[in-house]
Amino acid sequence: MTQTYRILKPGSQNPESARQQFLRDVEQGLSQTPKSIPSQYFYDETGSKLFEQIMDLPEYYLTDAEYEILERNHRRLAELVNHSAFNLVELGAGDGRKTRVLLEHLHSEKIDFKYIPIDISEGAMTSLQEEVAACCSDLEMLGVVGEYFQGLNWVEKHVGGPSLVLFLGSNIGNFRPSKAKIFLRRLRQVLRPGDFVLMGFDLKKDTRRLNAAYNDKQGITARFNLNLLARINRELAGEFDLDNWEFYGWYNPLSGAVESSLLSRKRQCVRIGACGKVFEFDAWEAIHTEYSFKYSEAEIEKMATTAGFTVAEHYHAKNQTFVDSLWSIPL
Ligand code: AVJ
Repeated sequence: MTQTYRILKPGSQNPESARQQFLRDVEQGLSQTPKSIPSQYFYDETGSKLFEQIMDLPEYYLTDAEYEILERNHRRLAELVNHSAFNLVELGAGDGRKTRVLLEHLHSEKIDFKYIPIDISEGAMTSLQEEVAACCSDLEMLGVVGEYFQGLNWVEKHVGGPSLVLFLGSNIGNFRPSKAKIFLRRLRQVLRPGDFVLMGFDLKKDTRRLNAAYNDKQGITARFNLNLLARINRELAGEFDLDNWEFYGWYNPLSGAVESSLLSRKRQCVRIGACGKVFEFDAWEAIHTEYSFKYSEAEIEKMATTAGFTVAEHYHAKNQTFVDSLWSIPL
């Protein structure tokens, strides 16, 4: 039984420089018109817990849909990818709950692979490690703490064999289309023929269903968004009074995204101690917090081919809400 849990840090992050970056991004975002805060900052400890609660919400169909896709298609996936030993590389693994389905099945079928999650958060990596140890104790895991492309470059250079790169959960939906295009081109550039990508997309659908998924009855999504302001208060000596703010997130069929924001309930000035600046908000002014882009199958195929991938297969959720799209690299 080999048990390999190594955490590598190609571009080591120190907490103080991470905080400085957060401050710079907040300062810049709140100085723009419209104001915004990058959605990557949702995921501190509190935010990550709230996101786990979102995944369990009855309205948030995305997680169950993808769970069901992986549950039904892991055999087919293994057949296509597993000509020899391969690396199962996961970008932004989070708590790895969905991946666990895949890991458990591949592992119990005695398929020869290494699990290589890449995540910027060392905390996420530690919980993943525990998760993997509990489900597949003799699975070889190599945790890479770092940015996606740093990690991918490292894997392509230092770990042999073809890779199946997972980017699940509609995480691609956070990028506006022009950014998604750049991201996919970069991804294509680090990969080689023989590699595969499995990309999760949330599909365009009845707007009522989309709006319900981001306006849950328990208000968890609202808390998830408000946590951004609470985090600024905690880490950057911000003085946001959360009672003066509310969450607003609705699907815009013209952009193809659920567009999330925080609305200022009144005219107010808010100081952020860490930069010593005061920011002014008009009554009902918005801070943009997140895009969650939704795609049609035609758009997905176009994105893949434009970036230089070949679409191999589409795995649909039974209820047609979600697609995991498998891409290969042409020779
Ligand atoms: C993790 C980016 C896929 O956009 O649906 C959930 C995050 N935001 N509810 C999404 C989120 C509000 C989620 N992603």
